[in-house]
This record gives sequence, structure tokens and C-alpha cells, in this order.
Amino acid sequence: MRRLILALILLLPTMVLAYSGIELQKANNDISDKASLQVGAKLFVNYCMGCHSAKYVRFQRIGKDLGLNDEEVQENLMFTAEKIGETMTIAMNGDDANKWFGVIPPDLSVIARARGTDWLYSYLLSFYLDPSRPMGVNNLVFKDVGMPHVLWEQQGWQKPVYETITDEDGHSHEVIKSLALVDEADQEKAEQYKKDMRHLVNFLDYIGEPAKLERHSLGWKVLLFLFIFLMFALALKKEYWRDIH
Ligand code: HEC
Repeated sequence: MRRLILALILLLPTMVLAYSGIELQKANNDISDKASLQVGAKLFVNYCMGCHSAKYVRFQRIGKDLGLNDEEVQENLMFTAEKIGETMTIAMNGDDANKWFGVIPPDLSVIARARGTDWLYSYLLSFYLDPSRPMGVNNLVFKDVGMPHVLWEQQGWQKPVYETITDEDGHSHEVIKSLALVDEADQEKAEQYKKDMRHLVNFLDYIGEPAKLERHSLGWKVLLFLFIFLMFALALKKEYWRDIH
């Protein structure tokens, strides 16, 4: 029984996605491929760090893991940070972000663990034009997303292709079957974009791993805090009960 429940829990994301009729595309990334990680890192600092931080990740650590020396890291990856020992934080504050997007762009340190690499890859490929949305775009795997399609110039715009389905009650409605490029001439660009997104997802996958260490140390701090708190609570309880006994 327990196994059955576990299997169902593990299958849940797949079932939800199957229900929405959208199949995830495979990221097929390889975190041991350093050249790919370097491309991904560059894409991340250039196109994502305007809005997203990766605050559990240090530049120095990236350099070490990706085979870059301090100067190379400084020249290629560090635009706002000053010291190589700094983490990938950003200048944008939450209030501004809220004003502009209605949400705060989340930190992406462990996003690959939260969402999975296939989801991330599909997400980055699935922005499409939707005039009804404030940013003019929507996303197949993240309905009504607040993020603009920041890489539209790299990919070219996509539009939805609809199909009509009839549900059990006999009502027919239109659903999105797939996405197609608005301009056929962008085909080549879009192919390159897919490769780039594989590198970017690879980088996001990799940073999720070193971040694990930081999360563990935070875990210990939380446990320590709870333990000290417990001591106080016990002392207090004793104090209260003294008069009653
Ligand atoms: C102009 C600001 C901006 C830029 C640049 C940007 N994003 Fe976002 N991103 C957002 C906002 C805002 C959200 C929150 C969307 C929501 O919750 O509706 C978001 C959400 C996301 C999410 C979904 C997080 C979740 O909730 O699971 C991912 C993944 C993501 N961004 C990846 C990226 C990547 C990769 C890049 C670089 C190519 C990037 N973003 C660049 C603003 C931005």
C-alpha cells in the first residue's frame, strides 16, 4: 500500500501534465560537460540576472567547478559583483519587482530541483504571443506567467496552434495543440536557441547541487534554533508549574 501511494505521489506531476495535454520536452543535459556549463553560465548572467538571483552560489565556486580562473570569471561572468567570493545576488529590490511584474522573480539557486530539468527546458521553449496578458506573452507549461519572454530575439516569436476537442458532455472547445514560429525565417535561429537553452538548463541543474551544501548548513542552524527555543520553553513551563504543585 505504501509503495502504491509513493508511486502515485511520484507520478503526480506527470499525471497533472498529461491532464493539461502538454508533454514536457527532454532536457537531456549533462552536468559533467564543462563547455556546456560555461555557455550556460554566460547566458544566465547576461539574460537572467537582471531579475533573478542565485544567492546560494558563489562566483568563485563556479570558476573552480567550470575550470575558469579568477580573471576569466571576473571578465566573463561578473558585471555587478565586485569580489570573486561574492554570491550571485542582484540589485533589483522586491518592491520594484512587484510593481513591474506583480510578483517577485524567485531566486533560481535550486529551481532545477524544484521544477526538474525537463520542465525548465520546456518552460524556456514555450513562451508564446498572447495579447490578453500584461507582458504580451503566455507560457504553455506556466499558465499566465508574469515573466516576459526575455529571449524572444534569440528564439523568434511563437504563436499557438489550436485544435478543437469535444469533452464528455459534447461541448467542443479550442485548446492549444502546439506552438509554431510566427516567422518561418526564424527556423535556424530557433534551432540554435534550443541548444542554448539546453546549456542554460544544464547550468541551472549544476548550481542546484552546490546549493545543497548551503541548504544543509541552514538546516542545522534551524535545528539549533529550535533546540535552544525548546530549552527556554521547558524552563518557562517549569517556572509556571512551580506555583501550581
Ligand atoms: C525582466 C525580468 C526577468 C528576466 C530577465 C528573467 N525572468 Fe524569469 N521570471 C520573472 C518573473 C517576474 C517571474 C515570476 C513569474 C510568475 O510567478 O508568474 C519569473 C519566473 C521564472 C521561472 C519560474 C519560477 C517558478 O516559479 O518555478 C523560471 C524557471 C525563470 N523565471 C527562469 C528565468 C531564466 C532562466 C531567465 C534567463 C533566461 C529569466 N528567468 C529571466 C522575471 C524575469
